Formats: sequence, structure tokens, C-alpha cells
Amino acid sequence: MLKVIRGGTVVTATDTTKADVLIDGETIAAVGAFDNVDAEVIDASGCFVLPGLIDNHTHMSMPFGGTTSADNYDTGTQAAAAGGVTAIVDFGLQMEPNGLQSSLDQWMGRAEGAAHVDYGFHMAITTADTQTFKDMQAMVDQGVSSFKVFLAYKGALMVTDDLFMQALERSNEVGGIVQVHAENGWVIDHLVTQALGKGQTTPIYHALTRPESVEAEATGRAIRIAEMVDAPVYIVHVSCEAAAQEIINARARGVHAYGETCIQYLFLDIEDLNRPAPEGARYVCSPPLRDASNQDFMWDALNFGHLQSISTDHCPFNDEQKGLGKDDFSKIPNGLSAVQHRLALMWEHGVKTGRMSPSKLVDVTSTAIAKQFGMHPKKGTIAAGADADLVIFDPNREHVFSTATAFSNVGYDLFDGRKTSGSARQTLSRGTVVFDNGKILTKPGHGRFIKRGSFNPATHGDATA
Ligand code: URP
Ligand code: ZN
Ligand code: ZN
Repeated sequence: MLKVIRGGTVVTATDTTKADVLIDGETIAAVGAFDNVDAEVIDASGCFVLPGLIDNHTHMSMPFGGTTSADNYDTGTQAAAAGGVTAIVDFGLQMEPNGLQSSLDQWMGRAEGAAHVDYGFHMAITTADTQTFKDMQAMVDQGVSSFKVFLAYKGALMVTDDLFMQALERSNEVGGIVQVHAENGWVIDHLVTQALGKGQTTPIYHALTRPESVEAEATGRAIRIAEMVDAPVYIVHVSCEAAAQEIINARARGVHAYGETCIQYLFLDIEDLNRPAPEGARYVCSPPLRDASNQDFMWDALNFGHLQSISTDHCPFNDEQKGLGKDDFSKIPNGLSAVQHRLALMWEHGVKTGRMSPSKLVDVTSTAIAKQFGMHPKKGTIAAGADADLVIFDPNREHVFSTATAFSNVGYDLFDGRKTSGSARQTLSRGTVVFDNGKILTKPGHGRFIKRGSFNPATHGDATA
């Protein structure tokens, strides 16, 4: 069955052109002018047609902080599709020593039959043993070609520098890339103990006990360790200028260091943690929200290619879950609900203000991620042969952020009351309309596992626009 998306402006990471997109089944057949073709027509006049966004950083149904993140693969990928996202790469966590396979099987089992858009996995490594390092090869063979280590969350997910170094060495052998949560867990633990000892228990102390230098130090250390073993390294959720500067310095030395930021670091700030209860706790994430003075730098870092992509670190917890820390900020589950909001916010404050070109937006939200994480050219572009993962963005379809318009299962919207003048009108996943004008049309299970390719230094996601 043919479909044609007619009359829109097609945006890729390199070009913006008036063109139709012809879809044959799950795949883009051609991009051009198709006036007389016998096909179902989707009218995109007045709209932009973009490659579906890829969210490289989500945590659906994840056991964390004494509870489990509030979105499963059904609700979380509905929220994703409503925001123009057609693929997520979610984090599996190693749940027990002696290998990674049983943990991957758990994550696969949760996602299968539930997701509305396609999904892949990164695998977080939490223990160093022979079977775990052996399984890194099996992960890459199964399309899970990226790993994560946490230098924070002492006593839970945190690993030591020697384990991290071994993971880098092994990752190099198996064709993977290691991602790092870069905050110094030892220092944070000490600062948290001091704060609680002084009776400082409210959400703002979450941020004050994880200052920028705690992130910058761990970022610099992670990169130096990667440099010693000549391994590529990818720093997730970079929140501030000081940490980004470590990546910039490393890249200037020729190190294969990459960085991702997330929308909360551009659109929210440390003052949100001072909101009256229960709201302040909703904004607790790690690294924490920063002073707003960082935001101009972070925009520039993305725009000039110092940071390669922007995702969301979607890890929602409802008010009851956040309430676990009502008398002690260190017990508030860390994470925010954001997967639906990237496109509308980035367009409004990036493209519409002239800060970022439409192509650059496509690059940092989709193309660069697809290249870096072994999904390109099936994902992340609009070209013959690519999956028909597309979003029709209407610059005049106003979006009012509210619980009523949010698909996340979290029960509130962090951006409640804000408006953008444009938003996603339709989202297509492999040729099927998943989201149409406020409604999800697919059944859980439309989304499929993405078997990703290994890390390729030649197409490593550096800026294309
Ligand atoms: O606060 C956050 N970021 N929660 C999710 C887990 C992580 O560190 O990515
Ligand atoms: Zn993290
Ligand atoms: Zn995360």
C-alpha cells in the first residue's frame, strides 16, 4: 500500500526542500514530486516533514530509587509518539553479577508487545566479572552496541574507575561505545551526609550537594581514562558549561569524546526545585537542574557541534513516588518526565527564534544519534530505503502543556501552563500513523526492537548540519 505525504517542506540534517515523500509499506520509496501517483494522501501543506526524532536516553519501567519509573513501554512510547519521537534507546540495567544476558532478557520482555514506536537498548554495567565482560560481545551481536557506567549513585549503580577502564577496553574489542553518567559519587555522598546533618532536607539540597564541579571533575576524569585506552566515550546528560568545557577541551586534543544534553538543562533551572511541595521534588534529577546562566552556553555547544545531540533522560516518578523523599531529599527518586516535549520546545525556542536551523534541529534530535548509535541510514533521515519514520510538524498547531495534553503516566506536566505555537500533528512509525492530532492510533506492540550496528568511528555522529 502506497502513501504520499504531499506538499510539505522536507527537512533533513543537510537540506530543507519542498517535496513529497512516497512511502511503500514500511519504507520510504522516494522523495520528489508525486502528483499523479495512486496512493493514500496525507496533506502536509504548511507543515514541515522531519525524520522521526530519536530519544537516545529513556528509562521505562526501570527499578530505581526504591521504586519503578512510572511509564511502561506502552504509556512512555505513546508520550514519545505524541512528541514526534519514532525510536527510543532505553537503558537496561545489569540486575545481578555474572553476565548481562538475563538483564537484557528482562528488558526485552517488558518492551515486547507493549511499545508503540521502535526501541533499542543500551546496557548498564554494574559489576566486573568474567562473564559480564564476555557478554559484552553477545550484547553487540544482538544489537545492543552501547553500554553505560555510572560514576554516581554510590551503593547502588556506581562503579569504580578500574571497572570503568576495563569496560572501555572490552568495548573497544567488541565494537561498542561506553556512555558515562559523570558525577563524583564519593564526593556527593559526603556532601549529602553533611547537608542532612545540618537538617537540610528539602529538594533544593539535591542540587546544592551535586554542584557543577562534581560533574565537571567526573567528566574530565572519565574522558582522561578513555583517552588512556584510546576508546571513544560518550557523556550522557551534560548539564552545565563546566562539564561541557571538559568535552570541548578533550575534542580539541583529538579525543573521541562525545556529549549529549537533555531538554531540562535548556528549559528548566535550579529555581524549579524551590517550588512549594509537592512540586519541587518533581524537578529532582541527576545531574541536577542548574543555574539558568548555563543555558546560552549549552545552546551554543549544541549548535556548534561541541555536544552532538539532545535527548530527554525520561525517567518519570509520580507524586507518591517522589514523596518517598518528603523528609529527606536524598530519598527522592531521581528523574523527570520529558519524552513528549523535545520537538515543540526546541522548535519554539531554537528554530523560531533563529537560534538553530531546522536542519540542525533534525541533526541533534535524530540524525546524529542514528549515526552514533548504529541506526543510520534506516533511521534518522528521509531518503529512499529508510524506514518511514516521520513527523509532520505544524508550526501553527499550538500546544498548551498540561496534564490533559500529556501522555506520560506521571500525573503532572513539568511545563504546565507553557505554550508553543507549533507541535507535532502526525507521527508515522515505519509507515503507520501512530499519532494523529492528539490521538494514538496504534495498539501496544506496533513498536519493534531495533538491532543496532556496532560503533563505527567513521560515522560517529559528529555534526552534519
Ligand atoms: O535523574 C536521573 N537522571 N534519573 C535517571 C537515571 C540516570 O542517571 O540517568
Ligand atoms: Zn545517568
Ligand atoms: Zn538517564
